[in-house]
Amino acid sequence: MSLDEPMRIGSISADPGLLLAPMEDVSDLPFRTICKELGADIVYTEFVNAEGLVRQPPVEHRRRGSDKLLFRDAERPLGIQLYGASEFSMETAAHTAAQRRPDLIDINCGCWVSNVALRGAGAGLLRDPDQMRKVVERVIGAVGDLPVTVKTRLGWDPASIHIVEVARMLEEAGVRALALHCRTRSQGHKGVVDYSWIPRIKEVVSIPVIANGDITTSQDVARVFAATGCDGVMIGRAAVRHPWIFRDARSYLQTGRLAPPPTLAERANLCLKHLRLSVELRGDRGGVIGMRRHFAGYFRGMRGAAQLRGELTRLAEAESVRQRLQQLAESPQAEVPVIPDPPGAPEAATPFTGESALADHRA
Ligand SMILES: Cc1cc2nc3c(=O)[nH]c(=O)nc-3n(C[C@H](O)[C@H](O)[C@H](O)COP(=O)(O)O)c2cc1C
Repeated sequence: MSLDEPMRIGSISADPGLLLAPMEDVSDLPFRTICKELGADIVYTEFVNAEGLVRQPPVEHRRRGSDKLLFRDAERPLGIQLYGASEFSMETAAHTAAQRRPDLIDINCGCWVSNVALRGAGAGLLRDPDQMRKVVERVIGAVGDLPVTVKTRLGWDPASIHIVEVARMLEEAGVRALALHCRTRSQGHKGVVDYSWIPRIKEVVSIPVIANGDITTSQDVARVFAATGCDGVMIGRAAVRHPWIFRDARSYLQTGRLAPPPTLAERANLCLKHLRLSVELRGDRGGVIGMRRHFAGYFRGMRGAAQLRGELTRLAEAESVRQRLQQLAESPQAEVPVIPDPPGAPEAATPFTGESALADHRA
């Protein structure tokens, strides 16, 4: 099992590799900072459209909230993720992104959404490995000494899974790590993840291979490491439901014991911190709006969670949200651990799936 050896990507070393997945509209600077503090080893920006970046390079410190390339040193190691179908725009975008000096550049070869994949970007590149290679080589050529990694899926559909050959090609082209969402493009975010491809890939490449898809608990993390020999695991939606997963999983891997669930005070205080970061980035109004998708995760499992989420979501002023969170942090039940619902448990209100964020993303 790879837990014996740290995962290395260029000069980045992680032991064991617990990564926060790139998520459009979710893995922004505030959320990344929270996950980092809770033990994520590597975090990624939301995906950045290469064409958009080429047309209109963002100006740092102006319209900070909309500058997806913005990050802070406290988040390091951090990867900027780019997507695009054309090697020319990807090359230029990679050059622009590299000037911000992230720790790595990641190429999105896994996005399944039609207006990305059907235009040849994201998972669309899985249908054209020659084009994928061109994109990868141009990006590597554009970023100097920065490591370039790829995040992809098993294949376009079950009839076209060529991931072992693709992994070999990517390593040959100079890619320094591969993250694999163990579903095909045709599955979207549904259906069974098939981790059995990871050991097959590991037989033919020596770059780190990172498993992704439906890893929702500390026990899942341990199981995936043990069953696949992967070098790292990447966690997306489960981190939104429970940002403590990085801390919990690390402690479980080290001790074999499950961490006690966070108390209401811990939940409210972390949410307060997240709110502060969100307001710092986007101002009062934008900061509050940016928090709305996170309230469910912070208070999951608590009696009256759906009602509380509704209440917090209706508050428009950062100060009102702050006061309500403060009240929770100081309430008589504040020190009582709140046991999160098991993954997949029915919720009183709409669960977070990410589908809405993906449906209206600006690709
Ligand atoms: C709301 C949302 C946004 C996403 N945005 C991105 C993205 O920008 N780049 C990317 O590579 N994957 C993106 N993904 C896919 C995730 O990185 C991850 O591969 C997927 O959610 C499976 O992992 P999980 O089961 O741990 O969530 C997104 C997923 C969700 C739910």
